[in-house]
Amino acid sequence: FSAFLTDSFGRQHSYLRISLTEKCNLRCRYCMPEEGVSLTPKADLLTTEEILTLARLFVKEGVDKIRLTGGEPLIRPDVVDIVARLHQLEGLRTIGVTTNGINLARLLPSLQQAGLSAVNVSLDTLVPAKFEFIVRRKGFHKVMEGIHKAIELGYKPVKVNCVVMRGLNEDELLDFVALTEGLPLDVRFIEYMPFDGNKWNFKKMVSYKEMLDAIRQRWPGLEKLPEEDSSTAKAFKIPGFQGQISFITSMSEHFCGTCNRLRITADGNLKVCLFGNSEVSLRDHLRAGASEEELLRIIGVAVGRKKRQHAGMFNIAQMKNRPMILIGVLLMLQ
Ligand code: GTP
Ligand code: 5AD
Ligand code: SF4
Repeated sequence: FSAFLTDSFGRQHSYLRISLTEKCNLRCRYCMPEEGVSLTPKADLLTTEEILTLARLFVKEGVDKIRLTGGEPLIRPDVVDIVARLHQLEGLRTIGVTTNGINLARLLPSLQQAGLSAVNVSLDTLVPAKFEFIVRRKGFHKVMEGIHKAIELGYKPVKVNCVVMRGLNEDELLDFVALTEGLPLDVRFIEYMPFDGNKWNFKKMVSYKEMLDAIRQRWPGLEKLPEEDSSTAKAFKIPGFQGQISFITSMSEHFCGTCNRLRITADGNLKVCLFGNSEVSLRDHLRAGASEEELLRIIGVAVGRKKRQHAGMFNIAQMKNRPMILIGVLLMLQ
């Protein structure tokens, strides 16, 4: 495995997340303000050729999984073409997408033909009116249609990301669990994380332990599944159910020790940690004509500086009277 993608703690980074756009067709309350976020000028965003150049380089060095994210990746007009071209990279075994599901049913047949191998869909509620409240747009039925299309086309499991917020959807845990009875879904309950402007507070966060207890009460037979390498999720299953449920415990138990991820933002910055704000612009180096060797050296330096773990969101968030913006915790989830 490439030394450039191995950090000083021996973690091998074989999973690259590429953001295809900062734009989104929804306005989820936990992610964005109503007016949206200020967008980078188009000329500063990576072109499709630049994305492919970088992807090729990372795959040559050992990346075997690429996840396309955003904003909402499925609003990039050439997303199918990008998947098709990624699919030609030798050594790349998984191409995934994390989508809000609005355009999924429409695009999935072509995405699948192009080589898309994994689908994660965000869905925080099963109640249409609540959906509109949380995402500030319509579209619940489109998302459900997208999830069913993914199942129909054979994606297994289709992962459903559900951010759990007290007072909003924590009463739906068991309904989400019930979905896994007859459908090959992996419903992933995510601890609500703070980030600049999302009005996070401790009371709104429902911890992994609390969710697990609530589900165990109804389903005492809930079985823990073996941990998968470098997975962010702790998986469980109810015997006899087709699907499974998982918990993404970004707040209460970080998974830095086994982190194998790198990310490239839509404007071409390499981020070695979701929680860090040190970034290096691969775009600028590309546009200045850097050779492959130079790019690799720059990537190697950034990966080499990766910290053992982030400060621990729980500890950071516990510091009282300090607005998130001052703490400098600007989460860039996607
Ligand atoms: P798989 O590739 O299917 O395992 O999905 P994923 O969990 O890596 O990606 P997804 O885009 O579905 O993200 C779901 C959740 O995982 C996000 O909301 C985050 O909470 C968490 N997550 C994703 N990437 C990172 C990361 O680099 N660090 C941390 N701490 N959490 C992450
Ligand atoms: N806390 C937890 N998860 C979040 N996501 C977006 N914002 C937050 C937050 N504040 C999730 C989305 C998507 C995934 C990539 O990140 O639901 O599924
Ligand atoms: Fe869009 Fe995803 Fe943010 Fe919701 S969480 S506004 S779908 S980018």
